[in-house]
Amino acid sequence: VGGAPPLPPPPLSAARASFPVPDGGLTHLAVHRETGEVFAGAVNRVYKLAANLSQLVVHGTGPVPDNARCYPPPAVRPCQHPLAPADNVNKLLLLDYAGGRLLACGSVWQGVCRLLGLADLAKLGEPHQRKEHYLSGGRAADAMAGVLLEQPGQPSRLFLGTAVEGRSEYFPTLSSRRLAPDPASPDMFSLVYQDEFVSSQVKVPSDTLALHPAFDIYYVSAFVSGAFVYFLTLQLDTQQARFFSSRIVRLCARDAEFYSYVEFPLGCAHAGVEYRLVQAARLAKAGPRLARALGLADGQDVLYAAFAQGQKNRAAPPHQSLLCLFTLEEVNRHIQERIQSCYRGEGHLSLPWLLNKEL
Ligand SMILES: *[C@@H]1O[C@H](CO)[C@@H](O)[C@H](O)[C@H]1NC(C)=O
Repeated sequence: VGGAPPLPPPPLSAARASFPVPDGGLTHLAVHRETGEVFAGAVNRVYKLAANLSQLVVHGTGPVPDNARCYPPPAVRPCQHPLAPADNVNKLLLLDYAGGRLLACGSVWQGVCRLLGLADLAKLGEPHQRKEHYLSGGRAADAMAGVLLEQPGQPSRLFLGTAVEGRSEYFPTLSSRRLAPDPASPDMFSLVYQDEFVSSQVKVPSDTLALHPAFDIYYVSAFVSGAFVYFLTLQLDTQQARFFSSRIVRLCARDAEFYSYVEFPLGCAHAGVEYRLVQAARLAKAGPRLARALGLADGQDVLYAAFAQGQKNRAAPPHQSLLCLFTLEEVNRHIQERIQSCYRGEGHLSLPWLLNKEL
């Protein structure tokens, strides 16, 4: 809780001190669930560290010649704007266990991804020929979140949420994509489903952007629990400009048409003060004591989420913060109630940002 005196730093062990954090800090972290090895994304670098945090491998990702106004990227079609070396900010870092590789997506070339070998971070591919390969042109490291849905005996699927910076014609804000075993496959990053009318994506409608040019959805966290995929987001309030609200977005993992999309406000309050700016979150299994205290069955999913105070300043949130715990069971019950009241004609799904569109 904000205002508490800072804790003394933990004692440094030799193993802990051996990794010099680069300028610009680390942007994303992935820990291998079997080996405990740590993968870290940064500006122009991806690192592999041993479980004791000593550095094992560094892989360079930039700077590369680029111009944010070039679309498609200069490697595919000559760009009329001058190219200059651009920093490649790591925006997404996911372990693809089924493919035995690391997915590292950056900010250059409208957001292309590299596939790296887990042992030595050798580059296996960097698809950039098709429009599905460009995930988002933004340079902010914290506006994108993704999670891999593992499926027995099949390649995993990527669920991805990203801010679009007004360019909804190029980038869906939410999508589900294929991860082909071969990085050179034309299927790589293609939408899981697409026909004339529906597809595995949500776009911010151009009507919404015409009315609210600054509207965007910032994805803070993504996770899978049970049969669902969840995202935590911060979005600009279309009714009260300059206010942000935090939402939990839920989709059925098997719903390739995204009919099951639903979002629900999420926040915390303490001593009469509201904390509505979600900053980070982590899903965990409740241990026996916590489960007993919460009246849950052992091993149920709980969500730890950190919120900053208020709901105005997304870019520089106040230092006052709360760490809150939610059970997925309760979140699901609230979502279920809302869906049922919607079917009874009492309420609505409340997606004011989805102007003139139905989900
Ligand atoms: C950390 O782990 C690596 C790889 O397992 C090992 O080679 C190294 O000696 C360890 N370093 C320390 C300081 O324990």
